[in-house]
Amino acid sequence: TAPELIRNFSIIAHIDHGKSTLADRMLQLTGVVDQRQMRAQYLDRMDIERERGITIKSQAVRMPWEEEGVTYALNMIDTPGHVDFTYEVSRSLAACEGAVLLVDAAQGIEAQTLANLYLAMENELTIIPVLNKIDLPAAQPEKYAEELAKLIGCEPEDCLKVSGKTGMGVDALLAQIVKQVPAPVGDPNAPARAMIFDSVYDTYRGVVTYVRVIDGMLHPRERITLMSTKTQHELLEIGVSSPEPVPTKGLGVGEVGYLITGVKDVRQSKVGDTVTNYAKPATEALEGYREPLPMVFSGLYPIDGSDYGPLREALDKLKLSDAALVYEPESSVALGFGFRCGFLGLLHLEIVRERLEREFNLDLISTAPNVVYEVTMDDNTQITVTNPSEFPGGKINEVREPIVKATMLAPAEFIGAIMELCQERRGSLRGMDYLSEDRVEMRYTLPLAEIVFDFFDQLKSRTRGYASLDYDPDGDQVANLVKVDILLQGEPVDAFSTIVHADKAYSYGVMMTGKLRKLIPRQQFEVPIQAAIGARIIARENISAIRKDVLAKCYGGDISRKRKLLERQKEGKKRMKMVGRVEVPQEAFIAALSSD
Ligand code: GTP
Repeated sequence: TAPELIRNFSIIAHIDHGKSTLADRMLQLTGVVDQRQMRAQYLDRMDIERERGITIKSQAVRMPWEEEGVTYALNMIDTPGHVDFTYEVSRSLAACEGAVLLVDAAQGIEAQTLANLYLAMENELTIIPVLNKIDLPAAQPEKYAEELAKLIGCEPEDCLKVSGKTGMGVDALLAQIVKQVPAPVGDPNAPARAMIFDSVYDTYRGVVTYVRVIDGMLHPRERITLMSTKTQHELLEIGVSSPEPVPTKGLGVGEVGYLITGVKDVRQSKVGDTVTNYAKPATEALEGYREPLPMVFSGLYPIDGSDYGPLREALDKLKLSDAALVYEPESSVALGFGFRCGFLGLLHLEIVRERLEREFNLDLISTAPNVVYEVTMDDNTQITVTNPSEFPGGKINEVREPIVKATMLAPAEFIGAIMELCQERRGSLRGMDYLSEDRVEMRYTLPLAEIVFDFFDQLKSRTRGYASLDYDPDGDQVANLVKVDILLQGEPVDAFSTIVHADKAYSYGVMMTGKLRKLIPRQQFEVPIQAAIGARIIARENISAIRKDVLAKCYGGDISRKRKLLERQKEGKKRMKMVGRVEVPQEAFIAALSSD
């Protein structure tokens, strides 16, 4: 297709504002998916995506659309809306010339509406403002058209009004995409340069790499070079998603499609890399993307120790389609052998864990999530801590923790509640703006560690669900952080070590020792449970001793019965973990680690 006839666009929106539903309508209206094949959230392939109603991976689809007798090729790139997946959004946007900014007409602008709009502006995209869900009785399209117009600097009349559910206004939107979004420009005669914006692992086809061609042309069967690694591959297949893969004779300037090279590992086909012709290579690679950095770490352990091997294999497989996941083996006194894994955020953690449990049939326990700390010792050695139990003792000069710039949007009546929450979480206010009379945007700097736990839930409950949140990493800061250890009979239990702000150490110690006292059964001797910072004990509980005679129940001399009882007790012991001399049922660890 000639570049003049191509339009590349994304739909960007706050979570749940209806991107996937609108994308479904476009697929239907352009005829690429017929009524019979249609199912809700067509592009969300993963089970988890459908069940949770969220988009995790980006998707690109090519749709034909006729305007005034001319057939255009519209490439739509569906993007995820959740904060954890912002890096997917920015990648997708870099492959487009335009963005449909979708706003729920019953909700108005939310935190990710802004975040995504800013990303689109950074990428210099043409923005088409659209109010969605106008079929809802609670919709106030006029009111929000004004908000939206004010935000992006257009007239309220320029905001289109659609319903992804009923399809109302969607044809007019497609017409506007053709009219407003610029056609891609590039040099068709230059050596090929195509940007990899996604690569996924497919059991049948191997790694499928999604690209947007900037200059030149790629053909099937030719040899290509990946510019960052200088590796060469043969293009076994090249095509477009429509939305099922359709092989083509080539991809030219402005086109969006997929490549199959027989590569087995997504890491070899790195997102952000430039694909060029092997015979006539480009000299300069395209500007790549920021590497996604893991922000949150947690230990993942199989509940059944013999699942360690299968867990490793499962992680290896998941990694094929999730380049952001990192992991390395670790072992824990309490939990045995497992992996320390790094995630983009809590949702990412939850999704990986759920996929491991579901797709690979594993029962897992995860330790409390933590962020990464940079510790500088008095002798200037630097230590990066991703596991609290590795926090160094000895002379520490300073500890740095990651911070984020958080943006919250809410009705003005909740300003007080939000300020209170942010203060409790060591936040500092950076600024505040009224988007309209009754809607504010509040900007805070917060330690990531304070957001990682239940910040979002707290924000939602204190604002009756009205506030929305978005955040971006913003470097780090020095903080007064300490490691709290939990000791059973003087032995530290690594899985419970945590790094907290000095002001919160005491309450963590009291909470954890109290929890464990209830969970650990009495032993034949007294067991002290202590919380300590270094050698200093800050909280203590006691489990008093008992002497339990299991055979007392067996009156008479039925030896086989006694044996059975002992046998059963032995079975039970297998699921016990020894911490020093103390026997702890694994369930106690699991229960203590699960938050409530
Ligand atoms: P993420 O992929 O998680 O970012 O969500 P999304 O923005 O793709 O939202 P999705 O399309 O899944 O829609 C969210 C909810 O809004 C679903 O329950 C939809 O049925 C509903 N919805 C979407 N569009 C409309 C609409 O035009 N009218 C009405 N009434 N409901 C809609």
